[in-house]
Amino acid sequence: MRRKIVVMSAFAFLAICLLFLTSCNGGAPAKPNGTPKPEPPGPGPGSFAEDFRESGKFFTNMPERQQGTSPHGWVQIWYSNNIKSLAGKDKFDSPVPVGTISIKPYIMEDREGIDGYAVMIKKEKGYDPENGDWHYEMRDVDGKLKEKPPAGKIRMCIECHRNYKETDYLAGTRMTVKAEEEKPPEETGGEVFDGEALVKERCTGCHPADRIYSHDKVDQARWKAIVDRMVGKGAKLSDAERKAVIDHLAGK
Ligand code: HEC
Ligand code: HEC
Repeated sequence: MRRKIVVMSAFAFLAICLLFLTSCNGGAPAKPNGTPKPEPPGPGPGSFAEDFRESGKFFTNMPERQQGTSPHGWVQIWYSNNIKSLAGKDKFDSPVPVGTISIKPYIMEDREGIDGYAVMIKKEKGYDPENGDWHYEMRDVDGKLKEKPPAGKIRMCIECHRNYKETDYLAGTRMTVKAEEEKPPEETGGEVFDGEALVKERCTGCHPADRIYSHDKVDQARWKAIVDRMVGKGAKLSDAERKAVIDHLAGK
């Protein structure tokens, strides 16, 4: 049924191309009103909007990419918001909800850009009961589903992710937390900063504290962007103070 529709729309597309003899060189078909639409990430259960980073539907605890574990190279991991409360935990009491998505942009070496996306999607009970009912897929830099390895219960992925059963097969939920804990204490000179006091002292000169606390709850990465912008405007914070303020605002 689905294939039939795809074939039919391919014909329709071809017919339109022939009619208008415009630049039908594989570019995205124009909407009826003529506005060109960007290519969607492609079909598949893990389709995600291109703006997943800013959409508010995903969060990350990794403001910057970090060196991951082979075979993943350098990574920044995003989880759907429904498991926000589990981030940083050693062990989950119950499996994550059906529909949970994790997107991992990865790059094999330390350079700009990315090589593609690894995606995990929690499927309904019974999809793959021995392996936590996870679907795995790989996407290229444009977000298009890769043909190899074929998406689904990819054995190679499962063999390794089953080592993380305690956190429902998710391997990266503790990554940032660990990185912060392992930092030597001399980085802040052993001093502990009070994020709340710092906000009162350094952030209320230009606008009331209300402006800050009435802000929609946003995650660590976005608070970092806002605080960096404020430092650009003139807020005075050292690196360690900046971090304390971000942690405080992100509710950590
Ligand atoms: C050799 C072990 C190993 C294999 C094989 C592996 N992964 Fe991972 N995966 C990890 C580890 C470890 C992490 C945590 C981040 C890191 O260190 O790169 C991770 C993280 C992820 C994440 C982020 C979600 C999370 O926290 O687990 C996704 C999505 C993911 N892997 C998808 C895949 C897919 C898809 C495949 C197969 C094509 C795959 N992985 C194969 C070890 C592996
Ligand atoms: C030198 C003046 C100044 C200081 C100091 C300052 N801000 Fe701001 N802030 C602004 C201005 C101007 C705006 C409105 C323009 C904008 O959003 O960029 C703003 C807007 C904001 C907003 C709303 C932005 C949004 O995206 O909705 C937040 C939140 C905020 N500030 C937080 C802070 C925090 C936290 C600090 C302390 C680290 C701080 N500000 C210190 C000038 C300042």
